[in-house]
Amino acid sequence: MSRPRGGLSPRKLTRRVTRGRRLRPADLASRLQHAAPLDRAAGPLAGAAQRALSHRGAADALHGVWLGQPLHPALTGLPVGCWLSAALLDLLPGSQRAARALTALGVATAVPTAAAGLADWSALHREQQRVGLAHAAAGAGAGSMFTASLAARLTGRDRAGRLLTLGGLAALTAGTYLGRYLAFPLGAGASHAEPVTHLSPLGWHELCRSRELPEGRPVRRQLGYLSLFVLRQGAEVMVLADHCTHLGGPLHQGTLADRDGAPCIICPWHGSTFRLTDGSVVHGPATARQPGFEARVSDQGVVEIRPRL
Ligand code: FES
Repeated sequence: MSRPRGGLSPRKLTRRVTRGRRLRPADLASRLQHAAPLDRAAGPLAGAAQRALSHRGAADALHGVWLGQPLHPALTGLPVGCWLSAALLDLLPGSQRAARALTALGVATAVPTAAAGLADWSALHREQQRVGLAHAAAGAGAGSMFTASLAARLTGRDRAGRLLTLGGLAALTAGTYLGRYLAFPLGAGASHAEPVTHLSPLGWHELCRSRELPEGRPVRRQLGYLSLFVLRQGAEVMVLADHCTHLGGPLHQGTLADRDGAPCIICPWHGSTFRLTDGSVVHGPATARQPGFEARVSDQGVVEIRPRL
C-alpha cells in the first residue's frame, strides 16, 4: 500500500498514537494486525491448510455453508462453556467427577472447533491472518492446558488439574478477545456485501438500457451508492450486489460457471460460488447469501430492478 512521503507505517503510527498512555487490549491487537513478520509463518500455514482442505465438500462443511453462517463461532461455545463450567465446579466440594467429564467434553469439542477455525482462517486477508494466527496460538495453548488438566485429573492429581484449568482459562480469555477483534473490527465472518435493502428503497428502479449490456459477460453498474453485478443472457438479466459476502471481492470480475444446471458466478478472490438466480451459496468460504435483485425489461428496453427480499 502506498503511503504519503514522510508518512508512517501503520505499525509506527500505532506506536506513536499509543505512546504516553496505557496500552489497551485493542492497541495490542492492532500491533498484531500490522506485524508483517507474522506473514512468514501465516503464508505457508495458510497454503498447507488450503491444500489439506482441497475436498470441496469437507471445506464447505467446515466453513458452515450448510448453516448459513460461519461454523467456527457457533462451535466455540461448546469447549468454552464446558471448560468454564468445569472451573466453576472446581469451586464446589465433591464435584471432581463432573468437572473431569466437562473438561474431557471440552477437549473433544475443541477439535472440530479448531478445524472449522483453520478453514476460515486460510481464506482471510493478510491482516486478518496475522491476528488469527495469534488467536489460534492462544487457543492451542488453552487446549494444551485443558488436555494436561484432564490427564492430571484422570491420574488423581486434582489439585494440579485445577491449576492447569486456571492457566487454560487465562489463555482462553486472550484467545477469545483476539477472536472478537477478528470478527468485529476486522469483519472476519461478517457479510461484506452491500446492504441492498438499506441503500435501495423498495420498488422498481431503472438501471440502464438492455442493449447497453454485453451478451453473456458480467459488468458492473451503479444504482445510487450500490455497485451491482449485472449479466444479460438473451432476454434475461440477472443482478446481484457486486461485493462478495465473504470479503468484498468484485463479483463482476469473477468466472461464470454451471453448477447442476444453475448459472453461477465464482468470486475471483477465494472462489466462493453463488447461484445467479437467487444469490444462494453453492461453495464457500462465503456462507451468507449474496443479496440480489429481481430484474425485468420494459417494453421500451429499459432494465428495471428491485431488491429481492
Ligand atoms: S471475497 Fe472471498 S470468496 Fe469472494
